[in-house]
Amino acid sequence: DLSGIDVRAEIERLRKERNAVILAHYYQKPELQDLADFVGDSLELSRKAAETDADVIAFCGVTFMAETAKILSPNKIVVVPDMDAGCSLEDSCPPEKFKAFREAHPDHIALTYINCSTEVKALSDVIVTSSSAETILQQIPADQKIIFGPDRHLGGYLSRKFNREMLLWPGVCIVHEAFSETELLKLKAQNPGAPIAAHPECPPTIVDHADYVGSTSGILKYAKEMAGDTLIVATEPHIIHQMELALPNKTFIGAPGADGNCNCNICPYMALNTMEKLYLALRDLEPRVEIEEGLRLAAKKSLDKMLEMAS
Ligand code: 13P
Ligand code: SF4
Repeated sequence: DLSGIDVRAEIERLRKERNAVILAHYYQKPELQDLADFVGDSLELSRKAAETDADVIAFCGVTFMAETAKILSPNKIVVVPDMDAGCSLEDSCPPEKFKAFREAHPDHIALTYINCSTEVKALSDVIVTSSSAETILQQIPADQKIIFGPDRHLGGYLSRKFNREMLLWPGVCIVHEAFSETELLKLKAQNPGAPIAAHPECPPTIVDHADYVGSTSGILKYAKEMAGDTLIVATEPHIIHQMELALPNKTFIGAPGADGNCNCNICPYMALNTMEKLYLALRDLEPRVEIEEGLRLAAKKSLDKMLEMAS
């Protein structure tokens, strides 16, 4: 029972006592974004985790992100508010099936989205995030055959944009799949002139209407640079918090699902994290991410390749 405890003050006290850094993804609740030392996209958060001199990383995101932090910073204690914060893309790609798929295509390299398990990273050649995928893909020789997993929408988008055939793993993000083209077009008609920014995890029915397609940090940058004062945002709506902080005079509208509002596009995994659970994680240093050393080193290879090629 946490009643009577000033959770925010306790987080502040424990953050100093533990020499902890709090990292948060843009899809976290506003209160978690506000107290984090750093808020960013998947690539930026990986870089922060690799660089930090804190003793403890408290990772407010989903577990594949916290595992990435542990792979890159093995000597730090990495804790998460809720170990059940998974990802539908990770779930779509069991390591043994991915291994069999790779073995069936020995002449292909595996270019793999960071939204996957540590085991799948260990079975991959190069990891990409949505902000680094285009730069990395352009460095791979044109005659090199590629398996892209687990997000078929990001893979399909890259494949169309660069006119490059890839074997796509059939995974999807349940959040970005939930946007409705019909409702989006209605919203667009109600807001004539407002551009649409979409994450490449969206299906083509959404991405094809977008004026800008990119990662969370890319969408945020687009919001800052666009000429108009209204933007339709087709990604998880919690990112709108950062837009409203940075651009109080502009209007941001979350793209709708089939029910006409954007609440169905809240990531249920990201939403498991709360202030109370973050407090408990800092207090108890649990739940803690641990990765067997052989597996960690195998996964680190493909992640290091990303960090090298993304810069
Ligand atoms: P980025 O923040 O890297 O764009 O990733 C989005 C996402 O869905 C993370 O789960
Ligand atoms: Fe996974 Fe989609 Fe949630 Fe991101 S938004 S963590 S891709 S389910």
